Amino acid sequence: MKILFVLSALLCVYRASASTEPLIVTDPAEVSNRTSALLSCNLTAPTSPIKGSFWMKNDLELDGTRKSTNQAYIELTLNKINAQAGGQYKCVFVTEPEVSEVIEVKTPLHVSAYKHSEQGNERDRGVMVCHGYGYPLPTDWAWRKIQPDGTPFAIANATLDKYEIKTTPNKTTLSILDLDMEQDMGDYECMATSELGVASDKIHLRVRSRLAALWPFLGIVAEVIILVTIIFIYEKRRTPDEISDDDDSGSAPLKSNSTNHKEKNVRQRNSN
Ligand SMILES: *[C@@H]1O[C@H](CO)[C@@H](O)[C@H](O)[C@H]1NC(C)=O
Ligand SMILES: *[C@@H]1O[C@H](CO)[C@@H](O)[C@H](O)[C@H]1NC(C)=O
Ligand SMILES: *[C@@H]1O[C@H](CO)[C@@H](O)[C@H](O)[C@H]1NC(C)=O
Repeated sequence: MKILFVLSALLCVYRASASTEPLIVTDPAEVSNRTSALLSCNLTAPTSPIKGSFWMKNDLELDGTRKSTNQAYIELTLNKINAQAGGQYKCVFVTEPEVSEVIEVKTPLHVSAYKHSEQGNERDRGVMVCHGYGYPLPTDWAWRKIQPDGTPFAIANATLDKYEIKTTPNKTTLSILDLDMEQDMGDYECMATSELGVASDKIHLRVRSRLAALWPFLGIVAEVIILVTIIFIYEKRRTPDEISDDDDSGSAPLKSNSTNHKEKNVRQRNSN
């Protein structure tokens, strides 16, 4: 009996407060899984004259919706409801005080990997990222590794001290510490759950051997060694040639000798 009394008293208080509040009737009350919608609000018991109205989405005024008429019934057309269009829509009537009502526009969950193909070096850290879109945002995220035989293996934050998962409603990041070529290469799946369902995407992770990461460097080193060797060999080969050149120049004094002879001859002729 006591409980019934308390309940009816509460109900009276609720009714009393409800009757003093202006009442906005929204139609529909909520939009879910639709490609287009017509939202409407009907202010049935304004507490003061209506000076105007406008619509908001996620607490930002929607451009071009502000009216300065005293209409108590306003509409908003949503032509293309994609993942970005979801959110909390609010009709606002400019009265004293302002009154408003929310219509939630729910869109299917969409999950997209930041990159569908990632790569990391052996022993480094591998990082994979997935984003979630839609309204409402995911309430849960999970990561799985698709094993070579196709069966998924659930990855938890502390599995093997090897994984680190950081999650916000619209983003999840999986870090793999100390990448191993054999164990960690392969396909990963990020999965999000919202009240409207489940969505997922896949990422392929390639792990390069440390040596492979060194290849460009080793290539440069090899090039330098080859170049130095070539120059060295060339120089070595050149040296004997230069010696023979010196021989040639050594023969030059012979020539000059001969000219000397000629001069001598000339002188001799002159003296003759
Ligand atoms: C708004 O609500 C009032 C009161 O319930 C009703 O008479 C009126 O027809 C409604 N207007 C529209 C456009 O639905
Ligand atoms: C995973 O562990 C890290 C570090 O301990 C923590 O910051 C993070 O919130 C955890 N993530 C989840 C999803 O539990
Ligand atoms: C993630 O969600 C928050 C709040 O829901 C929002 O403010 C933010 O812009 C979102 N970030 C991205 C990258 O979508």
